[in-house]
Amino acid sequence: MTRDDLVFFVNGKKITEKNAEPEKTLLTYLRRNLGLTGTKLGCAEGGCGACTVMVSKYHPHQNRIIHYAVNACLAPLCSLHHCAVTTVEGIGSMASKLHPVQERIAKAHGSQCGFCTPGIVMSMYALLRNNPQPSMHDVQEAFQGNLCRCTGYRPILEGYRSFTKDGGCCGGKAQSNGCCMTNEHTQEHDSSTLPVQKLYDQSEFMPLDPTQEIIFPPELMSLSKQPQRELRFAGERVLWIQPCSLEELLELKATYPNAKLVVGNTEVGIEMKFKNLFYPVILAPAYIPELNIIQNTQDGIQVGASVTLTVLGDVLRAAVKKLPAHQTEVFKAVLEQLRWFAGQQIRNVAAVGGNIMTASPISDLNPVFMAASCKLTVMSKGEKRVIEMDGKFFPGYRKTILKPEEILLSIEIPYTRKGQYFSAFKQSPRKEDDIAIVTCGMNVFFKEQSNIVQSIRISYGGMAPVTVLATATCNRLLNRQWNEELLEEACTSLAEEMNLSPSAPGGMVTYRRTLTISLFYKFFLNVQHKLSLDLLKEGVTVEDVRPEYTSATELFQLDSPSSVQLYQAVPPGYSDDVVGQPIMHLSALKQATGEAIYCDDIPCYENELHLALVTSTKAHALIKSIDTSDAMAVPGVVAFISAKDIPGSNMTGPVVYDETVFADDKVTCVGHIVGAIVADTQAHAQRAAKAVKISYEELQPVIVTIQDAIANKSFFQPVRSIERGDVAQGFKDSDHILHGEMHIGGQEQFYLETNCTLAVPRGEDGEMELFVSTQSASKTQALVAKALGVSANRVVCRVKRMGGGFGGKESRSTILSTVVAVAAHTVKRPVRCMLDRDEDMLVTGGRHPFFGHYKVGYMNNGRVMALEVTLYSNAGNSLDLSLSILERALFHMDNSYNIPNIRGTGYVCKTNLPSNSAFRGFGGPQGMMIAESWMSDVALSCGLPAEEVHTNSLLLPGEEDEHVQGGGFHSLQSTSGQFHHRSQHRWTKRGLSIIPTKFGISFTAVFLNQAGALVLVYSDGSVLLTHGGTEMGQGLHTKMVQVASKTLGIPCSKIHITETSTNTVPNTSPTAASASSDLNGMAIYNACQTLLQRLQPYKDKNPKGCWEDWVKAAYFDRVHLSANGFYKTPDLGYDFETNSGRPFNYFSYGVAVSEVEIDCLTGSHKNLHTSIVMDVGKSLNPALDIGQVEGGFMQGLGLFTLEELRYSPDGYLYTRGPGMYKIPAFGDIPIELKVSLLRDAPNEKAIFSSKAVGEPPLFLAASVFYAIKDAITAARAESNLTGPFRLDSPATPERIRNACEDKFTKLCPPADPGTFIPWAVQV
Ligand SMILES: Cc1cc2nc3c(=O)[nH]c(=O)nc-3n(C[C@H](O)[C@H](O)[C@H](O)COP(=O)(O)OP(=O)(O)OC[C@H]3O[C@@H](n4cnc5c(N)ncnc54)[C@H](O)[C@@H]3O)c2cc1C
Ligand code: FES
Ligand code: FES
Repeated sequence: MTRDDLVFFVNGKKITEKNAEPEKTLLTYLRRNLGLTGTKLGCAEGGCGACTVMVSKYHPHQNRIIHYAVNACLAPLCSLHHCAVTTVEGIGSMASKLHPVQERIAKAHGSQCGFCTPGIVMSMYALLRNNPQPSMHDVQEAFQGNLCRCTGYRPILEGYRSFTKDGGCCGGKAQSNGCCMTNEHTQEHDSSTLPVQKLYDQSEFMPLDPTQEIIFPPELMSLSKQPQRELRFAGERVLWIQPCSLEELLELKATYPNAKLVVGNTEVGIEMKFKNLFYPVILAPAYIPELNIIQNTQDGIQVGASVTLTVLGDVLRAAVKKLPAHQTEVFKAVLEQLRWFAGQQIRNVAAVGGNIMTASPISDLNPVFMAASCKLTVMSKGEKRVIEMDGKFFPGYRKTILKPEEILLSIEIPYTRKGQYFSAFKQSPRKEDDIAIVTCGMNVFFKEQSNIVQSIRISYGGMAPVTVLATATCNRLLNRQWNEELLEEACTSLAEEMNLSPSAPGGMVTYRRTLTISLFYKFFLNVQHKLSLDLLKEGVTVEDVRPEYTSATELFQLDSPSSVQLYQAVPPGYSDDVVGQPIMHLSALKQATGEAIYCDDIPCYENELHLALVTSTKAHALIKSIDTSDAMAVPGVVAFISAKDIPGSNMTGPVVYDETVFADDKVTCVGHIVGAIVADTQAHAQRAAKAVKISYEELQPVIVTIQDAIANKSFFQPVRSIERGDVAQGFKDSDHILHGEMHIGGQEQFYLETNCTLAVPRGEDGEMELFVSTQSASKTQALVAKALGVSANRVVCRVKRMGGGFGGKESRSTILSTVVAVAAHTVKRPVRCMLDRDEDMLVTGGRHPFFGHYKVGYMNNGRVMALEVTLYSNAGNSLDLSLSILERALFHMDNSYNIPNIRGTGYVCKTNLPSNSAFRGFGGPQGMMIAESWMSDVALSCGLPAEEVHTNSLLLPGEEDEHVQGGGFHSLQSTSGQFHHRSQHRWTKRGLSIIPTKFGISFTAVFLNQAGALVLVYSDGSVLLTHGGTEMGQGLHTKMVQVASKTLGIPCSKIHITETSTNTVPNTSPTAASASSDLNGMAIYNACQTLLQRLQPYKDKNPKGCWEDWVKAAYFDRVHLSANGFYKTPDLGYDFETNSGRPFNYFSYGVAVSEVEIDCLTGSHKNLHTSIVMDVGKSLNPALDIGQVEGGFMQGLGLFTLEELRYSPDGYLYTRGPGMYKIPAFGDIPIELKVSLLRDAPNEKAIFSSKAVGEPPLFLAASVFYAIKDAITAARAESNLTGPFRLDSPATPERIRNACEDKFTKLCPPADPGTFIPWAVQV
């Protein structure tokens, strides 16, 4: 077979690929073939944006060069013929010149771990290439497809605001960095704060000069304009054919009826990667003129099937501008759906035909097309037909009525007429870039000059295996007046017609059913309003919408965010002192240019192999047999590794050895590692791993939920208890007693860089070198040595940096490192594995779900006198760190409140889930969340404002004053109060909450509160600093350089940190518990002091000399110029037997006030405002500390309002990637966000009077949860529901909607528990 050359350009360089592999993505090609590792892999499913690059091509149908951002992880290499690709390396570098887009994100402190940064840089770059002066709205839209887990997004948006039309200053309501009004604003809002300094100086930014950008290669231009011919790329298993005419395409489809057409590959790519589907022949019709047609017809606009969603949006927007409003009702509905359709990278490549033909039941466009009765033109060789998209078009799940040899040519989207109204709605867990729970199109046409329905068509997605029409309901509404009776009839009918089995796939059954009615109600109100206005013009009067209902008709808008950051500047005269200065993360610029090296960016060794895990598909079972014959037949496979290959011990675990490296004969969770395949490429290893067949004998019981564990008494020992005061007496003395419960869901760490290990056997004496993305180099070293059966001195673990950790790489990273090390030892070659996102989410566990039961005794004024709490955590199948996590939850069970009589008991539940582990906050947030639940119950029972009840029990009564007194709370309260108390809005409610936090700093395992440092001074005066902490984006290395700089009295530029390694500082504690700056900072300080003492004689001899002079003199005088430092936190230790002792060195305090608005009909909410005051002592670096506060807050926001891990009743995790598991996105940040670092609060217990900051701010996001609860309370009052009610975390749209009980929810009662098997369970 003839193979064509694939010709394309990367960063201006021509590439001619003779062996283009159809199964290879652009991302793999960039990283592995070209060594361009700046572009990152975060998910491989188009959901995180870490792989964003810009593609430019000459578009023959538009006759111009187009530039667009794409996800390199989904872009097939073969789709890039005659394209120019620009990666982050192509626009600027530290070595040559930075691009302003790179510079600004770094200097604005918008890069922490940096793993998301190249993708964000490229999204912004692509935007600016198309629009050098975008609006803030354009910027927000450009980032819909990018995620960041560290920064909380605010600094990225602020930094990039400087490119916008409204500019960075007052035009853009800047109010903060670089804004001339900052001081004025500050005085107005917070007169108590000292003079404000900027976190960065915008005036230093390089200007953007669009004329300097790399041009589209002239050679490509001429190549693209030449007549094209069919192209064929044959790979190992797949043939890719790119026809260039419709005839060729139809001929090919006749020859290969089962061939897949691929345009954007955003669906097929997912099927091949994650659903194990395989298509041997692919036809690429992206360039065929007839499939790119855009043409006005008599009845509407005809759009070719290969037209991308971005182009479709442009076309419809232009039509809406040009045509009379009544003609474009359907166009507006399509545009509304496109607003929330994926991210821009996907919309830029995904085709309208791809969406239709995928026939997904949750397609966003199909319900609109169906409700609008769109006409589809389909063709096969010699035949063309036009069909209507009606109820028969999708005969089954992901099926259409097209014959195999047919293709979709185009769709005609119709104009509407006077008297016709159309709406589309999409409800999803997260507003931006999320798939729908329920989505719909609704179309009604009225008889002339009346409100009588002539025709009506309603279509839903998400309610069946296919997009469906509500035909029965629509028939019942014909010839009826559009009024309350029609509404009632429609709702009752929809409740019957849009029914779902209580076990329906996707779950959320009650919510989905309620949504069908609630969304119809929105449509009803919309139409009622428009119709009344239109009829009035014709002299006919019909009832308009009641004013208090109008907010239900408003479309959700993403407002442009504004923010303020306040911190106490270093006093004048201390400006040489870098401690306290907001200096930029030392790697930020490298991260922004893609030059920063992460574990998987390390160049491949020549003889290196790749590893893929083989994991259990059963939660509790005996392994009967493992058949690897098919796997070993996959090309490039070298070995299958399992328990029998372990030279040392198969038993492992960070605290107790209760886990296996490889499951021996029994598996105890889905995702339990059974074996691993080692092969020449990752693709081969993964393909082979999927081909390994394991047969099981299933065991009982399968314990998945906390309730299962309680029923089976499945607990790890010991049961912990903390007690203070006389609880029995406290209850006796109380005016009232209440009982309550709360469940808090788990959370995936979702570090953007998944777990990665490269193990290199050194070939002698059992030595092994490991490059690992881990927070715990020493634990990795120890457990690898144990598995290999060698002593720790033969294993070196090196950590350069991590792309985020958040606790997820504290202990669970070792389950991969041990496997990779055993594999490398077995095959005697370097072995690498970076887990795919789905594998990482499956095998590593996350934050513990908690269930709390409480009994509270309180007085009439809400003062809590006695409390009894029982906490249960879902630990999964091994102990891991769960006992310490439970202990911390118990230590924080009273949050910031002074409860005189208190008893907490905690159980660690042993279940058949992957072991849960550390996650920022380490049990503290769960403990405090339950505290706020009983506080809320007490306030609701007493009928008192929550803030008053808080204040009555606060430990430090002044704590909340920062905002309560400072005006933030009361001014917000007055507007919010006005909003719901005057009952202006029935279907939207605002809520407000103020929440304090008190977080204990220290590891509760006392021995971990130690750290070491090694400071080497070279004879040229440069300093190499090493300490036990790892850099995961939090800026630890930056702070440690600042500490060394201040102690030694030399500039930061003379100090360097290369990595964390076990052969420089031994026995290090994990970088965790927020304590790393405290511990390592003191160790560094001590080492530097030793060096200073040794240098002192030379300073004395030469007082006018400089650092280099003293170092040189000392060197020639044979002075030892390296020093160790060590530090241990004094006087720590808690005794659970006697309930006495000091678990923490000190506490970090904070308080937040938040305001939200909920949509009572859909359960969506908007974060309107948050103000935070955080106590970080004397900040070592305010920019980094504010970054931690904002990033932590946003992770908490995810935990408490958004992120939901969904498990089947038999322990299967459904949510294995950003497609189904939603972390906060750009659009989730509060519209107004104020962060202040508490002034004048030095902390004598930590380095340079600072305080820890990593974990404490996370819990402040509970203010958003309780603001939502406040808003729900207002909504429930409309239905005469008062008093306490249970609201579990996270407060998802489903929970919010279900809690806002009303006449619509009553129509969809939930099935009785126990009468059905649910699709998902609350674990
Ligand atoms: C991160 C992400 C987010 C997403 N978000 C959304 C969302 O919000 N809403 C939503 O509805 N979908 C969403 N999707 C799904 C997907 O993007 C859309 O369905 C998209 O429109 C598919 O277009 P494509 O060109 O990429 O399809 P491809 O993957 O190229 O093809 C999809 C299917 O259509 C067939 N096909 C394509 N063209 C033709 C033709 N002319 N004739 C016959 N068959 C054809 C292909 O053979 C294939 O079966 C998302 C996907 C991803 C990866
Ligand atoms: S790696 Fe491509 S979008 Fe996540
Ligand atoms: S900086 Fe964005 S993910 Fe870490």
